[in-house]
Amino acid sequence: MLSLDNAFTDEDVQDFTDRVRRFLGLSSEELVKITAEPKIDGLSLSLTYEEGKLVRGATRGDGTVGEDVTAIARTLPDVPETLTGTGWPDRIEIRGEEYMSNDDFAALNAAEEAAGRKLYMNPRNAAAGGLRQKDPRVTAQRPLKFFAYAWGDVSAPFAETQIEAVMALKAWGFQTNDLFQGHDAVDGLLKAYRDMVERRAGLGYDIDGVVYKVNRLDWQDRLGKVSRFPRWAIAHKFPAEKAVTTIEVIDIQVGRTGSLTPVARLTPVTVGGVVVSNATLHNEEEIERLDVRIGDQVEIQRAGDVIPQVLRVMNPDRADRADPFEMPHICPECGSAAVREIDDKGKADVRRRCTGGLICPAQVKERLKHFVSRKAL
Ligand code: IVH
Repeated sequence: MLSLDNAFTDEDVQDFTDRVRRFLGLSSEELVKITAEPKIDGLSLSLTYEEGKLVRGATRGDGTVGEDVTAIARTLPDVPETLTGTGWPDRIEIRGEEYMSNDDFAALNAAEEAAGRKLYMNPRNAAAGGLRQKDPRVTAQRPLKFFAYAWGDVSAPFAETQIEAVMALKAWGFQTNDLFQGHDAVDGLLKAYRDMVERRAGLGYDIDGVVYKVNRLDWQDRLGKVSRFPRWAIAHKFPAEKAVTTIEVIDIQVGRTGSLTPVARLTPVTVGGVVVSNATLHNEEEIERLDVRIGDQVEIQRAGDVIPQVLRVMNPDRADRADPFEMPHICPECGSAAVREIDDKGKADVRRRCTGGLICPAQVKERLKHFVSRKAL
């Protein structure tokens, strides 16, 4: 399963359509229809049907190898066990996004809280947790939803355009997104984008951008892909969400290699529907650049699953500010010296590191975590 390249500005979208035209060798008169649809903030799911019957559900994983979630997929109301209608190829892999609605997420978290369990960070994490359940009966109680928007391996072609294909998915019993639309010019795409920005808060589920796709499937085939991105599609991302809050304290985290990372503990604030109470300050150069101090009001930004970042101090001229924050020169976990190493050219490492090695309990724990992680052991 591929991923999507990102566009952030109107110019990026214009560049995308120009690239498509150039690649296909089209004249400026020839119309290139492109579809626009919300980018659902969930998890991609692959569903294989043979003779119209669901035979396998798989997560995206690393794009090549995912997890087998067939039993769980069978419990999702939006996933038909048997395809309806006619015209489906003997074998077809349907792809789409598994997600949780905002209301269902709020209800799930209320139940988790009442049971004294840990809360989910956002609907996406709750949806991921639902797919990962060992017991399909537990998932069956989770209100997970699914929008179909693409397909993978097929035994025979079944449509000539993206629009026809999505209509077919709908006819076979899948939920498709009502905001899916086609446009012949960039202006229409950008209008669709602005319209979705406006509707975003009222949709009832999280979206983090708009996906544009070249409508003609023969053109999609000719355009192909570059590394893991198709040339025929792009995600126009929504701007990161921002909020203002206060830095209560700055804690120091010691990582696997002994690096000391300052973390701002914030007065909890909701940013794009998620309560944020920590933000990374990266290192002491970043603290100096921002001149952040304990007690400061700061603007923070959250983009998708990325750890929130501090953008700026709101009131740098305030008279009663705390003193500039100084990184400790002693590891807060083990008391060893924490130093910034100097390289051959006399340049100091941006990271200050604990020199304790394995006598540092934080390093021991982080190294062990790394050793048993998915990418290591
Ligand atoms: S199309 C080859 N359409 O976005 C392109 N993807 O950043 C296939 N996603 O892994 C994907 N909504 O999980 C497509 N309407 C949509 C989408 C969508 C969400 C996710 C998908 C993909 C990721 C890429």
